[in-house]
Amino acid sequence: MTSLPQTFPLPTHRPELIDFLATRRSNLAKVMAAPGPDAQTRDAMLDIAARVPDHRKLAPWRFVIFEGDARSDFGQHIAAGFMAGNPTAAADRAIFEGARLTRAPLVVAVISATVDCPRGTPKWEQELSAGAVCFNLCLAAQAYGFGAQWLTEWYAYDVAVNAALGLKDTEKVAGYIYIGTPEVKAVPRTRPSVAEKTQIWTS
Ligand SMILES: Cc1cc2nc3c(=O)[nH]c(=O)nc-3n(C[C@H](O)[C@H](O)[C@H](O)COP(=O)(O)O)c2cc1C
Repeated sequence: MTSLPQTFPLPTHRPELIDFLATRRSNLAKVMAAPGPDAQTRDAMLDIAARVPDHRKLAPWRFVIFEGDARSDFGQHIAAGFMAGNPTAAADRAIFEGARLTRAPLVVAVISATVDCPRGTPKWEQELSAGAVCFNLCLAAQAYGFGAQWLTEWYAYDVAVNAALGLKDTEKVAGYIYIGTPEVKAVPRTRPSVAEKTQIWTS
């Protein structure tokens, strides 16, 4: 049942989990189609996504859901942000930019929402927790049989787009998670040599 290399050991306890994690691939947003998850499944994915390491239970993140017409409605802010920064761009570029969120039936913006923590959880740790939410949402979507991709592209960093999204000064977009039915199977991707990136500490 496994697609793992022969040398990869599988545990007897839930071997499918290791197979899932060790062969996981993102799916390209541009080849994601309907259907997306129904509301109950979507909400379950968000609950699972929020089940992340979180030092001192600050929950320093939140979600914004885009489905249906809301995707192209918010796309107008993306298009406007693009044209403001690129005033000489061709008009059809605004159409392209405005359609970005429509690539998938469900897009979830994961917002890093750090708080001042008197007990001392650094902002860095809070931002890492938001990153974990993004990846956990991808895993949850894929475990439910959907495709998922974590994107930021340019608009996650655009001040005007983020104002339209309602971000506070303490907030950042950790990612837009595109979720849908993959039209194309993801092919294996070259992975770094973990051995080259791993040091066994010796005193
Ligand atoms: C914070 C973050 C932002 C990303 N933004 C983009 C992006 O804007 N465009 C893109 O092509 N991939 C982006 N990626 C990479 C994809 O999510 C994904 O990792 C890539 O398609 C490779 O697939 P894999 O997850 O199977 O390795 C981003 C990844 C992270 C962690």
